[in-house]
Amino acid sequence: MHIHDYEKIWLVLAMVLIVAIITTITYGATAAGIGMISDDEETIDSTALDEDERFADPRVEEIDDNQYEVYVIAQQFQFRPDPIEVPANSQVTFYVTSPDVLHGFHVEGTNANTMVIPGEVSKLTVEPNEPGEYGIVCNEYCGAGHHDMEGLLIVHPEDEFELEDDSDE
Ligand code: CUA
Repeated sequence: MHIHDYEKIWLVLAMVLIVAIITTITYGATAAGIGMISDDEETIDSTALDEDERFADPRVEEIDDNQYEVYVIAQQFQFRPDPIEVPANSQVTFYVTSPDVLHGFHVEGTNANTMVIPGEVSKLTVEPNEPGEYGIVCNEYCGAGHHDMEGLLIVHPEDEFELEDDSDE
C-alpha cells in the first residue's frame, strides 16, 4: 500500500500529539508538587466514623515534640473540630474524612488543599510558621449549604500554645 507523503506527515503529527497529551497529563498528576489522594491510606467505613479511634473524637493530638496530628471530619456543612488550634513552627498532619458526600479541605493562604472522599482518608502535612487565623473552606460542591461550609485554623505563637484536653475521660 502506498502512503502519500502528505498523509505520513499527518500520521506523525497525530502520534506526536498523543505523546504530548500523555506527557502533559502525567506531568500534571505527578510533578509540580501535586498530590492525589494517597493510596497508602486504608479505606474506612464512612457510616461508622463514631467507632473509629481517630475520628470518633475529631481532635488535635501531639504525637511528638512539635509534631501534631489532626483528625478532621468534613461533613454537611461543617468541619470538626472547629476551630483547629496548633502552635507555630510545628509539623501538622491532617487526616480528613467525610461521613456523607464529597467535600474539599483548603486552608486559605496556604497550599494545603485536598479532596475529602467518603470512605477514604486524605492526609496532608503542613508546617505553619506564621501565627494567625486561617480560614478553612470546602471547595467541592456538597449541597445547599456548601457556601457556608467553613472552618478555622488558629496558629498560636509557640510559647502561648497549650493543647487543651477535651476528651471525656
Ligand atoms: Cu462541603 Cu462544599
